[in-house]
Amino acid sequence: MPVQRTQVGIIGAGPAGLVLAHLLHLHGIDSIVVERQTREHVEKRIRAGVLEHGTVELLTEIGLARRLHRERMIHHGIELLFDGVGHRIPLTELTGREITIYGQHELVKDLIAARLDTGRPLVFAATDVDISLDEPGFSYVHDGVRHEVRCDFVAGCDGFHGVSRTVIPRSALTVYQRDYPHAWLGILAQAPPASDELVYAYHDRGFALHSMRTPEITRLYLQVRPEEPLEEWPDGRIWAELRTRLSRNDPGWHLNEGPILEKSVAAMRSFVVEPMHHGSLFLAGDAAHIVPPTGAKGLNLAVADVKVLAEAFAAYYTGHGAKLLDAYSETCLRRVWRIQHFSWWMTSMLHRVDDDPFTRQLQLSQLRYVTSSRAAATTLAENYVGLPLP
Ligand code: APR
Ligand code: PHB
Repeated sequence: MPVQRTQVGIIGAGPAGLVLAHLLHLHGIDSIVVERQTREHVEKRIRAGVLEHGTVELLTEIGLARRLHRERMIHHGIELLFDGVGHRIPLTELTGREITIYGQHELVKDLIAARLDTGRPLVFAATDVDISLDEPGFSYVHDGVRHEVRCDFVAGCDGFHGVSRTVIPRSALTVYQRDYPHAWLGILAQAPPASDELVYAYHDRGFALHSMRTPEITRLYLQVRPEEPLEEWPDGRIWAELRTRLSRNDPGWHLNEGPILEKSVAAMRSFVVEPMHHGSLFLAGDAAHIVPPTGAKGLNLAVADVKVLAEAFAAYYTGHGAKLLDAYSETCLRRVWRIQHFSWWMTSMLHRVDDDPFTRQLQLSQLRYVTSSRAAATTLAENYVGLPLP
């Protein structure tokens, strides 16, 4: 069995694994990245697309944002739509910070290209990863051959359904989970966005979100029941429901429709494991925590984790001991729970809960308050654009 020796073995080539790999490269720390899927699959996987101010600052600092700066859309506000009226939250006016619209799969393409440019190892279609905790390392199968990786540390960046978290003894973990009685039906449509900014709509029939990718591509979401079968949502029904939930008293506004390029249903859950570190194994991103998409935080939280982790590895490999590594979990969990709260709050404020008129009145009161009080709007805005990275 071929054996590779490195300093940090990274499992998963999503935003967490690839940004970590690049940060380690800049610190001159060796690493290998193994990814179960093919390059094509990873680069085509449609996910969210909102980047916090701090995420873009970091990506720019480490030289990963050239195409992002050319192709991104910069937004200075979002809109909350309820009772047929849109209310703008002026993010930049309230915080001095902005958000960036740039598809996650576009970012992943840039990260993969940057990794290959370094000449450091990135193995796609690496299956059957088997992690060993005693002697830090793992093995994987590539082209029918099992390979072994010996390393000092393993970074589990393999997402919610990955293998990393599963090798930590259950007794060593505290798991926090909340499943929401909703899901999001998301579409990508060949149609120009009908609004210049994101529209979060609260409607009797359920939540809807008008987002975008480019001046030609709109990204839209509908609140549906969990496990909603896509077959029950032919294109015509999707557009009809979006027209209804995004409708407003302003006759001049109408939704632009076009060919649907992609559609999928995603469950909504909040999930955190503590600690995010076990022996030589460090979890980052979705491997350690999941947020409902309402706050657009998943990718940004993954990047925040690996910024902390890379600095801790750099301190260790420059002879400053393991203090930052030992503090990794605690440091990250402070931000994780802040973002868990914000994502739960946005989800609770904006999603229809069946047959619960009391909750409905609370939601409307919350929406009226956050769109009329500068203090409340600022709270939403500073969490939405992203609190400064640790
Ligand atoms: N072996 C190797 N690779 C694996 C394994 C495994 N056993 N299991 C999963 N992977 C890979 C997946 O194929 C995926 O490419 O790990 C990667 C994990 O990437 P993400 O799921 O994107 O997770 P993360 O990098 O933490 O980024 C979080 O991604 O899912 C979005 O909404 C989420 O925006 C958030 C961001
Ligand atoms: C997206 O553009 O995909 C998106 C935007 C905002 C969200 C979630 C997803 O809250």
